[in-house]
Amino acid sequence: MGKRHHVIEARQFDREMLEGELFPLADEMKILAARGGASILSRRIMASLFYQPSTRTRLSFESAMYRLGGEVISTENAKEFSSTIKGESLEDTIRVVGAFAHVIVLRHPADDAAIRAAEVSRVPVINAGSGTDQHPTQALLDLYTIKKELGHIDSISIALVGDLLRGRTVRSLAYLLAKFRNIRIVFVYGEGMAVHEGILEHLTEHGVPFSHTHDLARIASEVDVIYMTRFQKEWIADNAASLQAAYDTTLFTEEVAQRLPAHAIVLHPLPRNQEIYEAFDSDPRAAYFRQSDNGVPIRMALLRTVIA
Ligand code: NCD
Repeated sequence: MGKRHHVIEARQFDREMLEGELFPLADEMKILAARGGASILSRRIMASLFYQPSTRTRLSFESAMYRLGGEVISTENAKEFSSTIKGESLEDTIRVVGAFAHVIVLRHPADDAAIRAAEVSRVPVINAGSGTDQHPTQALLDLYTIKKELGHIDSISIALVGDLLRGRTVRSLAYLLAKFRNIRIVFVYGEGMAVHEGILEHLTEHGVPFSHTHDLARIASEVDVIYMTRFQKEWIADNAASLQAAYDTTLFTEEVAQRLPAHAIVLHPLPRNQEIYEAFDSDPRAAYFRQSDNGVPIRMALLRTVIA
């Protein structure tokens, strides 16, 4: 990845770029932000175009841009408050917004939105979540957090937990993990919420062993990382409540916490519903708020890298 390049999917990154460039740059950005920011991207404008709700992704991108001295133009609910309501295509919107900004950060309900946007955009497009398919910047900050918390990414056992059918963060993270050595993945999901075959094929091709269970407590003592995700109810038209009952076998309970090794960490892309009980937040293994904090330096590093 370099200047003027798009950030479309997790697979586009290689570990040399991550460990050699992006993560060290994020370390620098953390220090820079703590010192009050810089003017590296002054006179540069970021457009955040969000067709789906978001708090932390949008705000952390906007915060990252401001901390680098840049400016932000933003449409928070692009589905209703943009020309989409007048029938404009995503492609036309991207063509037009490219004249207003030096980078476009896009969240959209269609799986192929970022690819379509990148095809017509004259400025870099950063995918901030596309459909149920990809959320590459979340996966980057997830991996950065694992590296910071455990000191290494190679040789970890990780449980990916929750609604794996619809959760885009897990998909992106699984693709990134496949680039590291000696990784072991346990997929933990409610009945009917299994991860897509395509990901399993990708893992097999890359020699990553994986297993499946519905019972988080059973495997909690064997993992270094538990990555929790919420039930993705907004993608389900009806009977969401009955499906949610199946998801309940994967909750992070006190029993899971007791079995989890002392060195292990618990991650969550947030927002959390009821899947991690709140009293666990004060446990040192609860790394999800530190993970969320890492969103700003990782996104500063990405903006610094893609904006000319
Ligand atoms: C995730 C998303 O939008 O996919 N949120 C986020 O960006 N932190 C996860 C989710 O909504 O469950």
